[in-house]
Amino acid sequence: MLSVEQNERLTQVGPGTPMGELQRRYWHPVAVDRKLAENPVKAVRLLGENMTLFKDRQGRLGLVGQRCAHRSVDLKHGIPEQDGLRCPYHGWMYDASGQCVEQPAEDPEHNFASRVQIPGYHVQALGGLIWAYIGPEPAPLLPRWDIFVKENVFRQVGTTMINCNWLQCQENSVDTVHVEWMHGAFAKYALERKGITHDTAVKQTANFMRHHIKLGFERNEFGIQKYRLREGEDEATAPSWNEGHPLVFPNYVLIGGPGREEVQMRVPIDDTTTWHLAYQIYHPAEGVVMPAQETIEPFDVPIEEYPEYVLGQDILAWPSQGLITDRSVEKLAETDRGLIMFRKMLEEQMALVAEGQDPINTFRDASKNVRIDLPVEHYPGLNAYRQGTAVFARGPNNPLERHMDQLMGTVAGTKS
Ligand code: FES
Ligand SMILES: [Fe+2]
Repeated sequence: MLSVEQNERLTQVGPGTPMGELQRRYWHPVAVDRKLAENPVKAVRLLGENMTLFKDRQGRLGLVGQRCAHRSVDLKHGIPEQDGLRCPYHGWMYDASGQCVEQPAEDPEHNFASRVQIPGYHVQALGGLIWAYIGPEPAPLLPRWDIFVKENVFRQVGTTMINCNWLQCQENSVDTVHVEWMHGAFAKYALERKGITHDTAVKQTANFMRHHIKLGFERNEFGIQKYRLREGEDEATAPSWNEGHPLVFPNYVLIGGPGREEVQMRVPIDDTTTWHLAYQIYHPAEGVVMPAQETIEPFDVPIEEYPEYVLGQDILAWPSQGLITDRSVEKLAETDRGLIMFRKMLEEQMALVAEGQDPINTFRDASKNVRIDLPVEHYPGLNAYRQGTAVFARGPNNPLERHMDQLMGTVAGTKS
């Protein structure tokens, strides 16, 4: 349980708030690159601030303030040009730093444009996503986490805008036992309600329903490593007990699986809105060369419509806890000790930032940022999709459904 004030410290992300300052030390994804191919100008909101993301006609990214300095027209209606973004109202143009570079109706003799500036932010592309840094200078490096830079994989990302605070989404990362209930008992019930036979529902959820015997949480250099041992698993060999998977501080959780990895990112849009990204990579069998992907496939993960889908179950739970869940009335139990560890870590890192120091997962040495390998459990097996256990991978609007048969045909051919 937290006091009302403690809860506010951990959940409010606007400028000047302790959590807002901590979050502003990190790069955050703000768009899927593929979406800019459809429309090169996009309104973006991050940590309670509104911005305009654009690609100029040379394909260069820019992230600037929401409004034109002249008379506040929203630049989401702007026209991308060769060297910047032009306001549609009177044609003022801004470069990627937010500097006004043209005012076509004004006398160039006055050189007024050089004295007009709107905010400009750091923006980069990596792994098919567009990332922003809106904190103080000097900006740290955009972390090259392994999942975003591994080669010869198939990539896709499922996104959802969720109406609740980021922290209750992210606390799920250290909430171990919900798996056997939310993804086990509730999933079975949801399947039965959809008309799936009892036997099939039991079979599909059996893995998730296995009871937890032991839970483990350890601080590591990236955040918190989470371990679980369930009924029927061997303590000496179970990947989830011996390797586990990490909460990557502060906003991600990385999950391993047969032939796949997934990072779930909980991006604070503002105090009561979270952009959730389930970014997935699939490894082919050894010796199989994956077709090149110019852009990654985005798909929507809708809320509540598909309660039989694992991520759908989580995303059903989080907003149901309230817009900003009231931690002054919660009753934490022994199995919630991972949450307590995470909250302490958040407090500790907010204090470091208040002292002017870098929090963890800040990278400034390029030689250490070539590829940052994260510790994650590895399961034997080629591909969960073919084994019929890929509840994580399968879901509504999932482009994997369209690609995987062809892909796995290649894989199966290689192995046989
Ligand atoms: S409002 Fe943008 S140019 Fe006038
Ligand atoms: Fe879950």
